[in-house]
Amino acid sequence: MPEPQLAAWRVRTDAALDRALPADNRAPQRLHAAMRHAVLLGGKRMRPLLVHASGALFNADPALLDAPAVAIELIHAYSLVHDDLPAMDDDDLRRGQPTVHVTFDEATAILAGDALQSLAFAVLADAPGSPPIRVELLRTLASAAGAAGMCGGQALDLHATGNGHAMTVGDLEQLHALKTGALIRAAVRMGALCGDADDDALDALDRYADALGLAFQVRDDILDVEGDSATLGKTAGKDAAQDKATFPALLGMTASRQRLDELSRAMDAALAPFGDRADGLRALGRLAVERDR
Ligand code: IPE
Ligand code: IPE
Ligand code: MG
Ligand code: MG
Ligand code: MG
Repeated sequence: MPEPQLAAWRVRTDAALDRALPADNRAPQRLHAAMRHAVLLGGKRMRPLLVHASGALFNADPALLDAPAVAIELIHAYSLVHDDLPAMDDDDLRRGQPTVHVTFDEATAILAGDALQSLAFAVLADAPGSPPIRVELLRTLASAAGAAGMCGGQALDLHATGNGHAMTVGDLEQLHALKTGALIRAAVRMGALCGDADDDALDALDRYADALGLAFQVRDDILDVEGDSATLGKTAGKDAAQDKATFPALLGMTASRQRLDELSRAMDAALAPFGDRADGLRALGRLAVERDR
């Protein structure tokens, strides 16, 4: 997939996010400004790009993909606002900007996260397309965001914090699969649901998305060790300082990089049946494992 296509999907997503978010000259202005800060100031838009790439693979009408692309990014942005709160990772830098609770205040950050989550489901409920597909999109996102997905993973992460070495690799992979993998898997699946994917295709996509979700968080863990805050746009070195359960902490850097290579091969194998038509998903898989921010 040529980079201009990814850039075009990014631009399209940013415009759709801007339209979906409440204006900050309308009351309650401070809440709306915090929501816009959380969503519009930076971010790679990995999950919306996955929605578009997966939809394109299955010939989905791009007009049907805007709502799931926006909804998943709103959930992701909310998860970051809450992840950065003092009660969780206590971070003051995100996407190269002061975090929402630093720029505004903690209560506003909590409410902005809550409101972004509600907005995500409102956007999907209003989406064009057939009602059965809309319900399936809502179910997919709800399940990925909740206790069986991202929130569950965050709970496991926090439980392990301060004792990050006392875990098996299998448990760590399960933690990562929930806190990061679930939304990535949902992004890929929502794109496919808007197109003509059959059950075999959905199974292959799940294998790709499982490998991608884990790879994405392993790379995040590696970057926390070897990245710099200016490039990352968030504070490097925090995982070790907080004794987080991460791949480098448990396995070391060499084994973490080997795991990334294995996951790259698993993505390639899962996408092989689709041939060139999966080049968008292939490019995003490479981006996940090679990125430096
Ligand atoms: C950061 O996600 C949190 C993780 C799940 C690892 P991203 O790396 O996608 O963050 P943005 O959206 O680009 O800021
Ligand atoms: C957060 O993982 C994943 C979420 C569900 C938000 P991290 O805590 O590692 O994400 P960063 O490093 O702060 O972006
Ligand atoms: Mg965290
Ligand atoms: Mg964090
Ligand atoms: Mg991290």
